[in-house]
Amino acid sequence: MQRLLANAGSIAHLSGNGPICGTIADVNKYVSDPGLAILVEDHVITKIAPTDELQSEYTSAEVLDLEGKAVIPGLVDSHAHLLWLGDRSREVSWKQKGMSYREIADNGGGINATVSSTRSASKSELANIGIERMRESLRNGTTHMEAKSGYGLDTDSELRLLEVAQEISKIESLPSLDLTWLGAHATPKGKTIDSYYEDIMSEQLPAVIEQGIARSADVFCEPGWFSVDQSEDILKASREGGLDLRIHIDEFVDGGGGSLAAELKVTTADHAHYTNDESRDAMSKSGVNAGFLPGTPYSMGEDYPPFKHCLENNWAWSIATDFNPNCRTLSLPFLASILVQRNDITPITSLLACTRNSAETTPHPSGLKHGQICEGGIANLNIVDGPWWEAWCLQPGHSPFAATMLEGELIFH
Ligand code: NIG
Ligand code: FE
Repeated sequence: MQRLLANAGSIAHLSGNGPICGTIADVNKYVSDPGLAILVEDHVITKIAPTDELQSEYTSAEVLDLEGKAVIPGLVDSHAHLLWLGDRSREVSWKQKGMSYREIADNGGGINATVSSTRSASKSELANIGIERMRESLRNGTTHMEAKSGYGLDTDSELRLLEVAQEISKIESLPSLDLTWLGAHATPKGKTIDSYYEDIMSEQLPAVIEQGIARSADVFCEPGWFSVDQSEDILKASREGGLDLRIHIDEFVDGGGGSLAAELKVTTADHAHYTNDESRDAMSKSGVNAGFLPGTPYSMGEDYPPFKHCLENNWAWSIATDFNPNCRTLSLPFLASILVQRNDITPITSLLACTRNSAETTPHPSGLKHGQICEGGIANLNIVDGPWWEAWCLQPGHSPFAATMLEGELIFH
């Protein structure tokens, strides 16, 4: 099947190899002039050239006239807690009374509140809510998502979440999924952190490895949650079992997770909000991405991580939703609006952060390039509802996209 997306407006293609660090001085290198067409054969982009040229060469291709609408890559959400049930909305007033995240957790809220409602949900309830969330994500331009477990906190419940996510990943009309085991997310009720850590090492992690159901492992490494030493042990054992590594660090304080991330050369260290510069530099030298999650400080009423400072130092970073019960957005365009309209980050750098750079941390299951529009790459792209590509990050309340192409199939929003 050949499809021709003809008469595109500007295409913010971002094509090239590897992550981009630092400020993009020459936007024109990554954005093409209007008038091009994109040839898609099955699920692959095979040619990008002037519309006239492709239209006369590929006469039997199905043509979709974009009438000058801008095009950007499919967005890549590289950090999401997809599957959980329950509602923690009441915690907002606890926060406004000055309770910290730790105090909320110690008073019956937080991760363990979500664990209770998630454990009592059936597999089909979990699958239905997961599918609904994936649809919402797609409506907001996401074509690939990294999805974590983490609200089971015992072997059976963690495996169940991964199994449901794996079932969802088979649905072709939804974004592709990359699964991460996050059993080390909190201490379940009735356990101490040390006894739960023992369970993880002796039972839960071996079961996840044996089942071969997750591509990566993640740990919530933060003072009061998993220590640097425990995180190191869990991650090293995960790597020995063939898993790729991710880590949550420095969400509330600089807890030393940055140097561990650098030492272990994990793929991405996320939140990384309060990480010190020495660790950021070490992470960068070890090829570790800093995965900023601006929805979380937005939800918590806090300041944002030092995006600009990291650009000035040429440290690679991405953004992702961190979708979870405490941060309930699946919209990367909304997060990009926080960057552009509240943090003075340019639209192209914001786009890069949730496409090419985030894609570096979570491969597409086809093995093809994604997070950019290039010949030979997967046909994942968004058609912006207007001529200017910058519109993708300037409409925080609703989807800026007229349509999304998902692996060669067009979905109109
Ligand atoms: O990345 N901080 C750890 N995990 C999630 C939040 C989980 C929750 O509050 O339910 C995060 O922000
Ligand atoms: Fe998270």
